[in-house]
Amino acid sequence: MKISVIGAGNVGATCAKFMAQKELASDIVLLDIKEGFAEGKAMDIMQTAALLNFNSRVSGVTNDYSKTAGSDVVVVTSGLPRKPGMTREELIGTNADIVKEVTDNILKYSPNAILVIISNPMDTMTYLALKSSGLPKNKVIGMGGILDSSRFKYNLSTGLNAPASDIEGAVIGGHGDTTMIPLTRLATYNGVPVESILDSAKVDEIASATMVGGATLTKLLGTSAWIAPGAAGAALVQAIVRDEKKIFPCSVLLEGEYQQNDLCIGVPIIVGKNGVEKIVDYNLNADEQSKFNKSADAVKNMNAVLKEQNII
Ligand code: APR
Repeated sequence: MKISVIGAGNVGATCAKFMAQKELASDIVLLDIKEGFAEGKAMDIMQTAALLNFNSRVSGVTNDYSKTAGSDVVVVTSGLPRKPGMTREELIGTNADIVKEVTDNILKYSPNAILVIISNPMDTMTYLALKSSGLPKNKVIGMGGILDSSRFKYNLSTGLNAPASDIEGAVIGGHGDTTMIPLTRLATYNGVPVESILDSAKVDEIASATMVGGATLTKLLGTSAWIAPGAAGAALVQAIVRDEKKIFPCSVLLEGEYQQNDLCIGVPIIVGKNGVEKIVDYNLNADEQSKFNKSADAVKNMNAVLKEQNII
């Protein structure tokens, strides 16, 4: 098994570190355009191998895609991170050029790879990677919903004073501060609906905190977060390479599911060796469906920028 990670910055290197620790592949290649940067990050990770007791080999390369040849999965994190006050949407022009170039280069050497997209604005970058690559829709997956759901579960766990591992919860819709939809109705504490334990004001507060979860960290850290994003990327890759059939909310192409067409947006999917194995229907109620439709409109507006800027 071989996995490549494009962009050896905060998210890319952290994702590679978690994947190495879990021994998800014998070879993990980090690639960056900054001279020597990926090599340095790979060496730093490998110097934990004896301490953490893993046998995956992590190597770094400067913009040499031939070293990524034959990858089964490629994680795309290249691009600029958010700065305080910046929305994910504002990143679109710069990151679109980068994601398009990177996707072309990956497929020259790994035509059979499944692509995991992390670069923001994630739903639009996933759509761009899908359209510009011509890959089948099961092979291009945006990671955002896994991260948002993990933040939702964390916020619920602190609100309930319960372990996060006992919490079920999903965030669907766009991966944006105003577009994501924490599905409070379906969230449970080991099977008990959280809406039957917490009052509605508390549930709303948790949902709101989840929606601005990324922006809160960007403000605190001065750049966008990387530990949970790296771990969420690694969890998605694990579900693919180990054929886990896990249900994760991810950004995928919709063709009629959830009443939407021709966009990539977060919905629950079953993840396995083929990438997207199935889109799961959560049977949204009218209020949830209306929020989802609004979210889809916002993502489509952003996708329109790709056409306006002649990127696709
Ligand atoms: N090819 C390869 N690597 C590139 C390219 C390119 N064309 N352009 C930029 N990079 C690299 C940068 O050199 C940098 O090392 O991508 C890396 C990005 O790393 P960081 O700046 O640390 O950003 P990070 O916090 O990792 O975020 C990456 O993930 O969560 C999203 O919004 C975030 O879009 C951003 C992405």
